[in-house]
Amino acid sequence: MKYRILAVLALAFIAIQFIRSNRSVPVVDAAQDLCTTLRAPSEVRTLLRAACYDCHSYQTHYPWYGQVAPISWWLDHHVKEAREHINFSVFGSMPPHEQTEALEACSEVVLDGEMPLRSYTWIHAEARLTAEQRRSLAAWFSDQARTGGAVGRAQESNK
Ligand code: HEC
Repeated sequence: MKYRILAVLALAFIAIQFIRSNRSVPVVDAAQDLCTTLRAPSEVRTLLRAACYDCHSYQTHYPWYGQVAPISWWLDHHVKEAREHINFSVFGSMPPHEQTEALEACSEVVLDGEMPLRSYTWIHAEARLTAEQRRSLAAWFSDQARTGGAVGRAQESNK
C-alpha cells in the first residue's frame, strides 16, 4: 500500500513536469528601463539588479530548480504579480504620476524591509540589504519621486 502511494506521487510529479511555464517576455525598448530613465548611479543599479530585478523586470534570472514544477509555478506567480505592481523594464513608458507613485512605494517598502521578499533573500544572499543600503536606496527613490527623476538627469548633464 505504502509503495503504491509513493508510485502515484512519483507519477504525478513526473506528469506535472509537462505543464511548462511560459517565460517569454515582450521585446521592450531598453531606453525605458528605470535605471536608464533615471540615470541611476552605479551603486543604485547594483542594488536594484541584485535585490529587485529578478521579480520586477523582464530581466529575470531563473535558478535551475525554477524549472521544476511545482516550484516553477510558485516563482512564475511571484514574478507575474511583481511585474503587475511595478515593472522596472517599462518604467519610462508609465505616465509621470504613476512613476512618482511607484517611486514613493519603492522607497517605503525598501525602508520598511518589506522588499525584497523574505522568501527571496532566504536563498539569494546577495539580495539581503544592510540597514545602510536600505536607507540609501530608499533616499534615492524618494529623491527621484520628489523631483520626477530630475536629480539623476541633472547629475548626468553636469558630468
Ligand atoms: C521574489 C520576488 C520579489 C523581489 C525580489 C522584489 N519584489 Fe517587490 N513585490 C513582489 C510581489 C510578489 C509583490 C506583490 C505582492 C506583495 O505586495 O507582496 C511586490 C510588490 C512590490 C511593491 C508594491 C507594494 C505595494 O504595497 O503596492 C513595490 C513598491 C515593490 N514590490 C518594490 C520592490 C523593490 C524596490 C524591490 C527591490 C529592493 C523588490 N520589490 C523586490 C515580489 C518581489
